[in-house]
Amino acid sequence: MSYTVKTIEWRGDEVVMIDQRVLPLLEEYIHHATWQEVGDSIRKMVIRGAPAIGVATAMGIALAAMQSSATSYEELKKDLEAASKGLFATRPTAYNLGWALQQQQEIWGQPGDPDDIRAALKKRSQEILEEDIAMCMAMGEHAAPLFPPGARILTHCNAGALATAGYGTALGVIRSVFQRDPTIHVFADETRPFLQGARLTAWELQKEGIPCSIITDNMSGYFFKKGEIDAVVVGSDRIAANGDVANKIGTYTVSVLAREHGVPFYVAAPTSTVDLSLADGSRIPIEEREICEVTHIGDHQVAPDGIAVRNPAFDVTPHQNVTAIITEAGVHREPYIESLAGIKKGK
Ligand code: MRU
Repeated sequence: MSYTVKTIEWRGDEVVMIDQRVLPLLEEYIHHATWQEVGDSIRKMVIRGAPAIGVATAMGIALAAMQSSATSYEELKKDLEAASKGLFATRPTAYNLGWALQQQQEIWGQPGDPDDIRAALKKRSQEILEEDIAMCMAMGEHAAPLFPPGARILTHCNAGALATAGYGTALGVIRSVFQRDPTIHVFADETRPFLQGARLTAWELQKEGIPCSIITDNMSGYFFKKGEIDAVVVGSDRIAANGDVANKIGTYTVSVLAREHGVPFYVAAPTSTVDLSLADGSRIPIEEREICEVTHIGDHQVAPDGIAVRNPAFDVTPHQNVTAIITEAGVHREPYIESLAGIKKGK
C-alpha cells in the first residue's frame, strides 16, 4: 500500500487525528478522550471530508459509551442519544455523519449489557474505518481504466487519504491511475476559502511523487479552454437519488466548465455517501460557515472590517453534468435514479 497518511485511529481508548488545520506546515496529532472533543474537532475541521467525518462520528459514539458511567441499558441509551444529537449537529452536509450514527444505533438501539455495547461500538467504529479504506481502493480499481494515457486530471478540494479513513475517493482514483501510468499530471484547485487543495491535496500528492500543479480556483477555465485538462474527478459529501452531487463549493462551476469543453466529470464516493431519501439535490442541507474563513487567510485579514460576507461550504452539481459516479460497487451512469437504487439494494 503506497499511501502514508494516518488520518484517524484508535490508540488505546483515545481517538487520535492528524490536525488538518495546520497542514502542510506542521504535522500534529490531537488526542480525544470524549465525544465532545471529537464533535469539536469535526466542527473546527481538525478532521474533514465526508467519509473521515463518518469514521470520527462512529468513534465519537464509542467514546460516549466509554465515558458514560451508566450501569443499566436505559442510562446508557440516554447518554448515547445525547451524544448522537450533539455529533449530528456538527456539520450538516456530509451524509456519512448520519450514516455512521445509524450504524452505531443499530448496536445501541438493542437492549443489552452496557459493557457488551461499549465493546461492540468500539469494534464497529474500527470496522467502519477498515471498510472505508477497502471501498476507496475498490473505487480506484473501477475508475482507473476510464482515464486516457498521460491524463491531465483536475480535482477540487481534498478527497484524499485525509478526507477518508485512508487512500481517498477522488485521490484514491488518482493514486490507482498513477500506479498504472506514472505520466499523469494533476491540477489541484486551491479551493478557497479553507484551501484544502493547496494545503492538503498538494501535500498528499507531493508526499507520493504524483506530479501536481496547484492552480487558483479562477484559473481552471483558462486550462479547460487551452485543452490542457482531460478529465475531472472529485469526491462528494452527499449524493441524491437522481445523481445530483453535493461537494465543496466551486465544484458546480468546474462541472459547468467540463460540460462546456466536453471533458468527462467523474465523482468518486462510497455508497455511505448516497442518500436515497432525497429525490434530488435541492433538499441537501448546505452548511454556511463563519465569515472569518473568507475575510482572513490564516490569521491575516484580507477584507475590510464590517463587510458583508457569504460563506456556503458546498454546492450541488446537477446529475446532467456528471459523466459517471464511481462507488465501491462499480461505475454508474445515467439514469442514476436506477443505477444508484440498484447499488443500495445490492448491499
Ligand atoms: O469542508 P470539507 O473539507 O469537509 O469538504 C470536503 C469535500 O467537499 C470533499 O470533496 C468531500 O467530503 C469528499 S471527501 C472524500
